[in-house]
Amino acid sequence: MDFPERFSTLPEYAFPRLRALLDSHAPGGAPLAMSIGEPQHAFPSFVSEALAEAMPLFNKYPPNEGAPDLLAAIGDWVAGRYGVTVDPATQILALNGTREGLFAACLALCPDRKAGGTPRVAMPNPFYQVYAVGAKAAGAEPLFVNATRETGFLPDFTALSEAELDQTAIAYVCSPSNPQGAVADADYWRALLTLAEKHDFYVFADECYSEVYRDTPPPGALQIATEMGVDPDRVVIFHSLSKRSNLPGLRSGFAAAGPRAMAELKKLRAYAGAPLPGPLQAVAAKVWRDEAHVIENRALYAAKFDRADAVFGDLPDYVSPPAGFFLWLPVPDGEAAALKLWTETGLRVLPGAYLSRDTDRGNPGKGFIRAALVAPPEDVDRGLLHIRDCLYS
Ligand SMILES: Cc1ncc(COP(=O)(O)O)c(C=O)c1O
Repeated sequence: MDFPERFSTLPEYAFPRLRALLDSHAPGGAPLAMSIGEPQHAFPSFVSEALAEAMPLFNKYPPNEGAPDLLAAIGDWVAGRYGVTVDPATQILALNGTREGLFAACLALCPDRKAGGTPRVAMPNPFYQVYAVGAKAAGAEPLFVNATRETGFLPDFTALSEAELDQTAIAYVCSPSNPQGAVADADYWRALLTLAEKHDFYVFADECYSEVYRDTPPPGALQIATEMGVDPDRVVIFHSLSKRSNLPGLRSGFAAAGPRAMAELKKLRAYAGAPLPGPLQAVAAKVWRDEAHVIENRALYAAKFDRADAVFGDLPDYVSPPAGFFLWLPVPDGEAAALKLWTETGLRVLPGAYLSRDTDRGNPGKGFIRAALVAPPEDVDRGLLHIRDCLYS
């Protein structure tokens, strides 16, 4: 049996790697996971009733592109959040969570050739791993752009060479970013969108953490593109209820883009996509229409970040993230630190290098661990103190 060459260089996924690193060792205390970014705050209480009401829809094939009511709810949300009008019928696609869309959009929009050669798909490094698989599946080559302390923990696409930019077909950006919680400000988006127009590439904005911020709502790619008058087909934004509403199991998100790009996404989905089940679409519409629970959720994360600042604030290299729900903590070696935490305290964190790749400028994840602030506050507190005592005392 032959297997595809294009996926042969993919490393093992982060979580099996973590199990291989830790599970042959006994935990040094009561096990506690800060390794996985699975939201654990309560989802809105009206969800259960809304689901029960919508049950009869299990009797029907769901609308592939999203039920009109869900698309309308999303359109209203985009207008309220970003002040941008998107046509629900032609510019929005309901997704089974953003991961599905981040992958499928690469297949739908990446051209076969760019600047006479294999297209490149630029992405931050470290990054959410689906970006690289989307690129590979589309026959493109990932271009890893290191996001380091020096670059404000965002990829500096403006530092790429003219030739690299010409070869680039798509640039993924994650803002707020996983793992660092960095936020792309309006100037960042303006610079990237200017490059995208000049070098003719798409911008895929993974904004699934957009509602988990501490003080200021992060600006969105479509918002800035609209203000600049950039071709809306150049920009695809991705949003999710997983983090905003603590519903990772609902598998509900959306993509929004200009009508021509969206038509391509919809065409591929009509053949190969798996629509979100009808009752879940009905629930999702109600969740997008409610902001009260989002405000409460944000306050819970803000309190955890305040606690993290109290624990680590005196460390010279500590960066207090403005958004997201991870800490990205500098250590001499991420794997050694994760193993030490597990064997001495029972705490699981992710070595940063499991989210990053080697480049000729080094591997920007190696000297970090990622800790998720998703557990109940008392557990997060215990975990933070373990990290402080075990790694920084
Ligand atoms: C940066 C980033 N993008 C996308 C996703 C996918 O989220 P979902 O498919 O649940 O919307 C995640 C999930 O952890 C993520 O961290």
